[in-house]
Amino acid sequence: MTFPTAPGSRPAGPIDRPRRLRSTAAMRSLVRENSLRPGDLVLPLFVREGATENRPVSSMPGVEQHTMDSLVRAATEATERGVGGVMLFGVPEHKDAVGSGATDPDGILNLALARLRSELGDDTVIMADLCLDEFTDHGHCGVLDADGRVDNDATLVRYREMALAQAEAGAHLLGPSGMMDGQIEAIRDALDGAGHEDTAIYAYTAKYASAFYGPFREAVDSSLQGDRRTYQQDPANGREALRELELDLAEGADLVMVKPGLPYLDVLKDVAAASPVPVGAYQVSGEYAMIEAAAANGWIDRDRMILETLLAFRRAGASTVLTYYASEVAGWYRDGL
Ligand code: PBG
Repeated sequence: MTFPTAPGSRPAGPIDRPRRLRSTAAMRSLVRENSLRPGDLVLPLFVREGATENRPVSSMPGVEQHTMDSLVRAATEATERGVGGVMLFGVPEHKDAVGSGATDPDGILNLALARLRSELGDDTVIMADLCLDEFTDHGHCGVLDADGRVDNDATLVRYREMALAQAEAGAHLLGPSGMMDGQIEAIRDALDGAGHEDTAIYAYTAKYASAFYGPFREAVDSSLQGDRRTYQQDPANGREALRELELDLAEGADLVMVKPGLPYLDVLKDVAAASPVPVGAYQVSGEYAMIEAAAANGWIDRDRMILETLLAFRRAGASTVLTYYASEVAGWYRDGL
């Protein structure tokens, strides 16, 4: 075919030119579909019992096990920068078979929740990881039966007690991450029975048995031998996430989460499309470590990659993103990105 060249007729070339909308920064800003703000981000923090100084987590450069005082400083700084919330993990001095430290009001996680609530009040959302793995000597997310298997229903009893301890310590939002069946219902029932109707639940709904949690194991001094494949989801499965979503909603989840993040954007998108409640994504330790390792080698533009990954979660449908970069990125926004 030949293109016409008569006066007034169009010259050769495409009619559709999407590049028009990319031509200037102002035009790109005008048509941008998704955005990121500090309030979307949640900062996970680790606090170590008996610590007198911070301990760096070697596989997560920039992340530390905090002392109580430095935890308060980090959470206060994040709050001042406008992050949406902080998610607390405890590293206890002593572990045992049932994870006693998790339900002890003087256990590190509960003490830290109480301290943060008294320092920060309602200025940010204080979240607690509700799981036994940091507190058990075998490192599993629940208690074991006589054959050494994770006992679902016996674990629910412990989760009920843990939920009460965390609510009483002042957590606004509990994050059950153990993938026991019926955990949301059990926790909701325990909370309501004790007058904690206002304590919300952020369900780890689709949580996969993932190699991307590797560096986290160092961050919490995990004693786990083996893996969590009998309770966390098989990475090969997508539809199963929708079943977990249905169950968590029926059991009373206030928010739901998909974890890990970037390798599971398809799951996030499916869950977000099906969920009537807000959906979050967790950019986990291994995702953080990969960015840091590549950046340390000079192979990538670290800051751009961080923003691009966080925006990807928003595009896939996440309202909140848990990320170890939360406070840093919120600082960038404060300083004018
Ligand atoms: C369980 C829990 C884990 C993470 C968050 N909660 C570890 C696991 O399931 O093995 C992983 C977070 C990360 O890798 O950043 N308490």
